[in-house]
Amino acid sequence: MVLGIDVGTGGTRAVLVDEAGRVVASQAADHAPIHSEHIGWAEQHPDDWWRAARQAIAGVLQANPGASIDAVGLTGQMHGCVMLDSDGNVLRPALIWCDQRTQPECDWLTDTIGFDRLIELTCNPALPNFTLTKLLWVRTHQPEIFARIAHVLCPKDYVRYRLTGEFAMDMQEASGTLLLDVTHRRWSAEVAAAAGIPMSWLPRLFEGPEICARISAEGAAATGLAAGTPVAAGAGDQGAGAVGMGILRPGSVSSTIGTSGVVFAATDAPKKDKLGRLHTMCHAAPGIWHVMGVTNGAGLSLRYFRDTFAPGTEYDVLTAEAAQVPAGSDGLLWTPYLFGERTPHLDPKARAAFVGITASHTRGHFVRAVLEGVAYSLRDTVTLLEEMEVPVHSIRLGGGGARGPLWRQIQADVYGQPVELLEAEEGGAFGAALLAGTGVGIWPSVEAACEATIRVAETIPPRHAEQMAAGYVDYRRVYPALKQIQGA
Ligand code: XUL
Repeated sequence: MVLGIDVGTGGTRAVLVDEAGRVVASQAADHAPIHSEHIGWAEQHPDDWWRAARQAIAGVLQANPGASIDAVGLTGQMHGCVMLDSDGNVLRPALIWCDQRTQPECDWLTDTIGFDRLIELTCNPALPNFTLTKLLWVRTHQPEIFARIAHVLCPKDYVRYRLTGEFAMDMQEASGTLLLDVTHRRWSAEVAAAAGIPMSWLPRLFEGPEICARISAEGAAATGLAAGTPVAAGAGDQGAGAVGMGILRPGSVSSTIGTSGVVFAATDAPKKDKLGRLHTMCHAAPGIWHVMGVTNGAGLSLRYFRDTFAPGTEYDVLTAEAAQVPAGSDGLLWTPYLFGERTPHLDPKARAAFVGITASHTRGHFVRAVLEGVAYSLRDTVTLLEEMEVPVHSIRLGGGGARGPLWRQIQADVYGQPVELLEAEEGGAFGAALLAGTGVGIWPSVEAACEATIRVAETIPPRHAEQMAAGYVDYRRVYPALKQIQGA
C-alpha cells in the first residue's frame, strides 16, 4: 500500500491506497485559520501543517494497524514560501499562494528581467501568487529575516523535511516558484542571479515519482511510519490532482471547480503564452508539461451568492430552482471576478457583476447565471488553449462542480463538447499516492498507474451548445465594459 499526503490550505489529508487504486483509509486534520494582518495578506505557520500532517498520518495508521506502507507521496497547496535558517528552523510564518501583497515586487522583477525574457526563462510572468515574489517582499520589508535564510521550500516540502530531514522539491511544484527553467527542468541561474537569490537556498530537484528521501528516525517517532520508508517527490496540488484524474496525455484536459476553478491540459512540450495568461509548468511525470488557467472565484461565487442573498439555504434547493430556468438564464450574466482574476485577465482589481437584470428574473435565474458565469470563465481558458493550439480531446470534470447534475450539464453545454465523470475522484492525495507507488515499482509508469486505477463512469453530451455559445459572446463583452466603469 502507498500513503498520499495532501498539505492543503484548510487542512492536511492522508490517504492509504492499495494496488487496485482503492482508498483503504482516509483521514484529515484542519489547519489553523489563515492569518491575514492586512487585506490581501495570507500567512500560515509551517509548524501547524506539520502538526496536522502528524495527526492525519496517525489517524490512518490507527485505523489500519499493521498496514505495510511501501512508499509515501506528498502534495499540497502550491507557491507558499517557507523560509528556514541554517539549522532548519522556521524563520517566520509562510506567505501562502493567495497572499496578494507582492505586486510592487512583481513590477520590480518584470522591470529588472523584462516581461518577455522572464517568460522565456520561466514560461510564466511575475504574479503575486508565485514564491519568488514573496521572498523579495521579505528582503524589502524584513531584511533581518532575509539575512538569515538558508533554505527555501514550498509547504509540502517542509512536511517532507520534517519527515525525512531532506530538502527536496519536484519539478511541477518548482514551476510555481518562478525560479525554475521550466523548459529545461532545472533551476534558472539567470533568474536567481537577477533577483539576488543564492542558488544554495534552493532544494534539490526531482521528477514527481522519483524517490528522493526516506523517513528518518525523528520522522518515524513523530508519525508512527517505519524509518526508512521511501518518500517520492510528489507534486503540487494541481499536478497531483491531474495525475489522480488521469490527465497525462496531450489532448486530455480537466475542469475542476473547487473554491477556485482550474482548467488543466497536459502537453508534450512547454507551451508558452506570450502574454502569460496561462501558467505553463512541468507536469508531475517526467518528459511532459502542462498549462492551466485559474478562475479565482469559482465555487466561491456560489457560496458568496448563497451566504449573501440566501443565507442558510441548501445548495440543492438553489440548484433545483436554477434547473427550472432555461439555458442562458434569459439573458442574465454573471462575471465571477470576486477576488480579481488570473486567467485570462491577470487583473487583481477586476470586480464581479450581474448584468442584464429584468423584473422577471427570479432567484433561480440568479443561481443559474452564477453557475453559467463560472463555466464561461473556465471556457476562457479553453479558448486560450485553442488559440495556443493545445489540443482538447476530452474534458474530465472534478471537484464540487462535478457533483451536481446541473453544473455538469452547464459545463458540457458551455464547452460545446462531451464531458467525462470519473467513478471516484479522490483529489491530490490520491495522485500523490500513485506517484509514490510508481516510484517503488508498484506500477511501471505514472501512465500505467492511472490506467490501473482510474475509470470513466459516465460521459455527458452537450444539449444547449448553440445557446451557450451565444451567451459566451455576450459574457466576453462584460469585462472590457466593467474595466471602463472602474477606470482601472
Ligand atoms: C495553483 C494555486 C492553487 C494552490 C492552492 O496555481 O494557486 O491551486 O495550489 O490550492
